[in-house]
Amino acid sequence: MVQREHCVETVLDRLDAMVLSNARSLVCYPNPSSPLCSKIIKELESRGISHVISYGGFKIGGHSILGHGWAGNVFLAVSEKHGLLAVKSLHPKSRRRSMLKEALMWLAASRLHVAPQLFEASRYFIAYKPILGPRLADYRPRTQQEKAYTAARLLTKAHLLDTIGVRHGELSRPHAQVLIDSCSSEPYIIDYDSATLHTKPSNLPKIIGGLARIKAFRDCIDTIQVRPLLSHYKKRHETNILIELKSIILRKCLRPRQLFNQASKQSQ
Ligand SMILES: Nc1ncnc2c1ncn2[C@@H]1O[C@H](COP(=O)(O)OP(=O)(O)O)[C@@H](O)[C@H]1O
Ligand SMILES: [Mg+2]
Repeated sequence: MVQREHCVETVLDRLDAMVLSNARSLVCYPNPSSPLCSKIIKELESRGISHVISYGGFKIGGHSILGHGWAGNVFLAVSEKHGLLAVKSLHPKSRRRSMLKEALMWLAASRLHVAPQLFEASRYFIAYKPILGPRLADYRPRTQQEKAYTAARLLTKAHLLDTIGVRHGELSRPHAQVLIDSCSSEPYIIDYDSATLHTKPSNLPKIIGGLARIKAFRDCIDTIQVRPLLSHYKKRHETNILIELKSIILRKCLRPRQLFNQASKQSQ
């Protein structure tokens, strides 16, 4: 298999796994001695999660986890049944008492491949496929085509959430709510902590507004051109409007590079 440049999957073979009971300072950051921590560790062990791998952008002492948010700590782990997992568990300062509501929303989204596949869930944690690659905010597409692909997939995924009545709740600022698989450039919508059921979720208008706020995608969004379509979509979440929006965004995304290429060919 040809490994693409920046594709980080192979890096993991070189990382050390820590036995779960020795990783309390990572799993239960910032309070590994809390009673909640013992419950979480016990629950993880009972579901066959045996090891934690120090990896990711959030540093704790000399180690790392994938992330630390309002609701949970996210770390890379290993289970005999599922192999490599991302585990999001409550932390002692979490604004949540249970992960079950997020797990339900996640399950619905992962069935449509909008969220990474969900493997395990309990009151204390959810475990799903790790996405090894940048957050949308840090993503630097290598070509306009790659950028166009990622934007179009994101629009489709936001629309899929609309069709099942799940409002993500944080897509107007998608900087940390979307992860890009660095091997396939496929975007995944994560973090269903604020998600709710809704008759008109309008995730699609939210993600388009969100993309316009991200520097790398700004040149793909013509806010004036998409506005009338978006107000129509907010009333009726119709697939033909998604198709029209995608074609406008694809054309805009691909145009600058094509014009540039033509101009440089003519000057040769
Ligand atoms: N599947 C995953 N693969 C890799 N990193 C992840 C994954 N899920 C979450 N993360 C990292 O953990 C961070 C926090 O996760 P998030 O679900 O947003 O938690 P919170 O609900 O507490 O804000 C994310 O911004 C991301 O950097
Ligand atoms: Mg978050």
